[in-house]
Amino acid sequence: MSGRTPTVLVFDSGLGGLTVFSELRTALSGANFIYAADDAVFPYGRLPEDVVIARVVEIMERLIPLHRPDLVVIACNTASTLVLPALRSRFSIPFVGTVPAIKPAVALTRTGRVAILATPGTVKRDYTHQLIQSFAGGIEVELVGATGLATLCEAHLKGYAVEDKAVIEEIAPCFVDRDGKRTDVVVLACTHYPLLLETMQHLAPWPVTWLDPAPAIARRAVDLAGPVPPRTIPADATAVFTSGVAITDDLRRALRDRGLPAMTIEAMPPHWH
Ligand code: DGL
Repeated sequence: MSGRTPTVLVFDSGLGGLTVFSELRTALSGANFIYAADDAVFPYGRLPEDVVIARVVEIMERLIPLHRPDLVVIACNTASTLVLPALRSRFSIPFVGTVPAIKPAVALTRTGRVAILATPGTVKRDYTHQLIQSFAGGIEVELVGATGLATLCEAHLKGYAVEDKAVIEEIAPCFVDRDGKRTDVVVLACTHYPLLLETMQHLAPWPVTWLDPAPAIARRAVDLAGPVPPRTIPADATAVFTSGVAITDDLRRALRDRGLPAMTIEAMPPHWH
């Protein structure tokens, strides 16, 4: 990819991929970015697997020929744990996925008990269970499917108040103190969750390491993109929202704060949803 400005397409069901986008924007400051959110059906965590696969493939079939990205980052665990093989067999460009950081959590734990905080979809995936089987031998793993946490994260990002009680209910099953082993690492296995990290740290019953894989994903993207010369003027950034609903001022502000300062909003054609 050297010699010209690469284009990176970052995809999520909603706004959680912005936590990965922020890291990518720093690591690949010279690249052009497209941020695409399938907000028409958010959250993916509640959708059947065949629906998630069909939607992501269909969206990529539209966006890849349109924007010609050099690299696609699927910044969504709920989609990545399912759809990467289909995407890789269909398109020849590289895809970077986001899957639960179980191996790093196992390397970090001192107590031998870790929690994986994810969407109900990611918790159900064969892929997630295989990761645990392959890498978490001898470690107690709490696999926690949070039904509403991604939605609370979006509300927070959009400037709405989020009740502590609602967050506590979602994260409480992560904190287990049994058989002399107390949870000491919580894997943020949904890209939305770092949006509420400060609140979760504050509400946790005891301190833990919260593992956000975004920096590791950005490093992988840099490996694949190769050296990208930095630019003195900000690179282009376009946001695509499949719902086509106009974004609010609060959301526009939040996007600007996260490195999408001047962007074109494209809606998917209405027949898409
Ligand atoms: N951001 C997505 C993830 O990483 C999930 C949110 C959703 O349920 O759509 O899993």
